[in-house]
Amino acid sequence: MGKKIFSGVQPTGNLHLGNYLGAIKNFVDLQNEKENQCIFCVVDLHAITVKQDPKELKKNIRETAATFIASGIDPINSIIFNQSMVPAHSEAAWILSCVSRIGWLNRMTQFKEKAGKNKEKVSIGLYSYPVLMAADILLYDASHVPVGDDQKQHLELCRDIAQKFNNDFNAPDFLKSPEPLIQKEFSRIMSLKDGIKKMSKSDPSDLSRINLTDSKDEIINKIKKAKTDPLQLPKETKDLIERPEAENLLGIYSSLKNQDLEKSISEFSGKNFAEFKDKLSEILIEKIEPISEEIKKLLNDEKYLDKILLEGSNKASIIASKKIKKIKELVGF
Ligand code: AMP
Ligand code: TRP
Repeated sequence: MGKKIFSGVQPTGNLHLGNYLGAIKNFVDLQNEKENQCIFCVVDLHAITVKQDPKELKKNIRETAATFIASGIDPINSIIFNQSMVPAHSEAAWILSCVSRIGWLNRMTQFKEKAGKNKEKVSIGLYSYPVLMAADILLYDASHVPVGDDQKQHLELCRDIAQKFNNDFNAPDFLKSPEPLIQKEFSRIMSLKDGIKKMSKSDPSDLSRINLTDSKDEIINKIKKAKTDPLQLPKETKDLIERPEAENLLGIYSSLKNQDLEKSISEFSGKNFAEFKDKLSEILIEKIEPISEEIKKLLNDEKYLDKILLEGSNKASIIASKKIKKIKELVGF
């Protein structure tokens, strides 16, 4: 039997190489495995946990859907939709938040990172964000959830929530505990400006990331300016210790080439960064430019994108409304 795949990406703009290599590329591979049922959600309810400009949000919802399609997700065989169009997500999130324990949420490192010193001033939504994420997954009985490394803890929480709901309402196996699918290698793409910081949408420097909408010239420029160290490229994997920038760039290269790190290391062993960067730009352009071109084309056709999202929501609603109905029955509504 195939897997039931569910994953989500926030429509917060600047989708980048980390989103692609850590998540979206994986979505495409899973979709292409026979018999898998795939649902990919533009999680707009998650996006508003931090302040969004309504016009920008609308644009970013379409852009995220366009990125899915441009990266190779087939909107006919997979479901692409945005979360806010299916009310069951909000309903399930409330019910599950009454099952979740504050102590569990207090352990979430992403909240601590995002809230920083500002803990008292961030939204309640940002705090309960992982419960909404659990609702997303559990509504569809997803068996596998492809995500980047940073979402691992949220998936563990999702499993705890499912188990507690099943126990509390005496419904063994009703909510299905999902398995995370996290790439073993290169699961965390780092900033081009600092090899120990994650590549992120919110980094104020655009030079820190390759956006999926970057042009050829922007890619070349960003790779040229990417931070390196004064040494030559390493001869062995162990030489990458304490060379986070070299490790990240070689990781990106390997991931785009679908080859292991050792192979890339042997290709460039002892060479200087200038030579390696030329090759890295080349493969980035080969893989990213067609996606970028396709995103631009799709964005010119808002009607088409809106139709995909509407049809996707209709399909998602059929599944989610059945599950929420049973959830409500179990709770006693
Ligand atoms: P977000 O943009 O936060 O909604 O993330 C969408 C997906 O991309 C999630 O599965 C993240 O784990 C993944 N992701 C985001 N940034 C990175 C990164 N720098 N490296 C690897 N995966 C990432
Ligand atoms: N929290 C995820 C992120 O920021 C996005 C997300 C929301 C998600 N709901 C999900 C991912 C359900 C997987 C499954 O990356």
